[in-house]
Amino acid sequence: MRSLRKTLLLATVASVVLVVALLHSWPTRAYTTVDVRQRPVPAVERHLEERLPEPDHRSASIPYRLKESVAGLLARNGCVCEGESGGVNFPFAQLLFPRVSAHSLHTAFEASELEEMKKRRAKEYQGFQLRSQTPVDMLMVAEANNPLQYPTQGVEVRPLKTILIPGLALQELPRELYTVNLTSTLGTLNVAAEVEGVKVKGDGEMHMTLSSNKLLHLNRQLQFVTYTNTLFHPSTADTVQFETEGHQAMFTIKIRHGVTPKLYNTGPRGEYNISALVTIATKTFLRYDKLQDLINSVRRFYPTVTIVIADDSENPQTVSGPYIEHYIMPFGKGWFAGRNLAISQVTTKYVLWVDDDFIFTANTKLEKLVDILERTTLDLVGGAVREATGYTATYRQTISIEPGEEEGDCLHMRRGFHHIIQGFPNCVVTDGVINFFLARTDKVQQVGFDPRLARVAHLEFFIDGLGSLHVGSCNDVIVNHATKIKLPWVSESESDKTYAKFRYPPASSDATHTKNGLLYFKNHFQCLTHN
Ligand SMILES: *[C@@H]1O[C@H](CO)[C@@H](O)[C@H](O)[C@H]1NC(C)=O
Ligand SMILES: *[C@@H]1O[C@H](CO)[C@@H](O)[C@H](O)[C@H]1NC(C)=O
Repeated sequence: MRSLRKTLLLATVASVVLVVALLHSWPTRAYTTVDVRQRPVPAVERHLEERLPEPDHRSASIPYRLKESVAGLLARNGCVCEGESGGVNFPFAQLLFPRVSAHSLHTAFEASELEEMKKRRAKEYQGFQLRSQTPVDMLMVAEANNPLQYPTQGVEVRPLKTILIPGLALQELPRELYTVNLTSTLGTLNVAAEVEGVKVKGDGEMHMTLSSNKLLHLNRQLQFVTYTNTLFHPSTADTVQFETEGHQAMFTIKIRHGVTPKLYNTGPRGEYNISALVTIATKTFLRYDKLQDLINSVRRFYPTVTIVIADDSENPQTVSGPYIEHYIMPFGKGWFAGRNLAISQVTTKYVLWVDDDFIFTANTKLEKLVDILERTTLDLVGGAVREATGYTATYRQTISIEPGEEEGDCLHMRRGFHHIIQGFPNCVVTDGVINFFLARTDKVQQVGFDPRLARVAHLEFFIDGLGSLHVGSCNDVIVNHATKIKLPWVSESESDKTYAKFRYPPASSDATHTKNGLLYFKNHFQCLTHN
């Protein structure tokens, strides 16, 4: 009997503890659910498309003459890559009269796997489009003679916060009763103040009606309309419908967090302190003699600048010294993997990319490159590389992408640039530059170097960065290139021979296939032209 009582008591105590524990861990706030799945065009957008005004059918019969010179500039349905044919064929012809050549990229895959690859790419591409488009990308047309006044752009709210919607009003129309409706989809509408003589219905909901027989009062009330985001789904937008009898308008409210800045402490003001502002990053493979020449040349001009070295040699040697960070990677990890590792370790505002066989000279004035990045909106600026022959290259490239259909887009690369930069007569705006550039560290880290590109790669970084990197190039900051041309009286060292085997594989090799495969699948290109 006693043991039964004891058991009962224990059981009671245990269940009380359990209930308390449960209550304690029970959520005290009611959570609503949000659907963040990728989905096709939401209903409101479809609704909007249907609302696009029908073109006046009477205009169809008005004659017109096509202006080929202008109409030809409009994007066609689909794109093609065309090379230039003909021309003279003699040694160095391509150097003197560069011709445009075109390449199909699907050849990176076997014919048997191509169909499957196409389907997979199409699926990934569709997902990308759904993720990257928001209602602010939609076309909206403001109808003529609409008495509704509303903001067309620039309204923004932080997730789950409230704002006053600016600019709402209704224009004079002789009416007995003035009524407007506001409808939102990702948040609620309300009024921050109640105006005399105005009836408010549905405040705090997604559909609110305001009515009054005095227009002035209604307009006063419209100045107090608020929007509260209730569904947290950052970087999207709510499309708000605003309507009165016979008229309808739509506008978007962007919902997003502010961009969190990433600022670097650059030290006291005054002349640019290169050691505090810049880290030099390089990738080495086997060529320790060249690397040491680079380090020695840097130290002549910048004794305390940090040098980050990524090294994927098979038998790594020690590279040490003050302000040197040497990172050893698995053997043969590759060109872009090394670049990625090197830039990931940079903690200064700017990173200077150099190849391990460059030599600093008195013309390698990093201050000039820092100055242009400090004073402009550029993210990256390239310099010039002088070969042993005296030939100096900036390797400026423009990159453009023409949208295509299922086959993919067309990538066009041409030597050249877009504009000269005002105030910097030696500098231009372009899309891609040589392997010698200074860049904002956070921007290069964002774009990243695709580690799948192990050997042949350079412009791929600029292709990935197109649209987010603002690129410049200056020809008055020059670094020397340890000789690349094989002079007959200089015998090639063993390490140079092994290096060449890895670094310059033949065009038919796996490395070239990987590169074209990535352009095809990752970047959704069908073909490429360049000169
Ligand atoms: C406003 O919305 C109500 C329903 O909430 C509807 O009955 C009314 O017709 C709408 N008015 C206008 C002008 O669209
Ligand atoms: C430049 O920056 C380095 C590293 O932050 C610092 O050690 C050095 O004192 C600075 N030099 C001057 C002149 O401010």
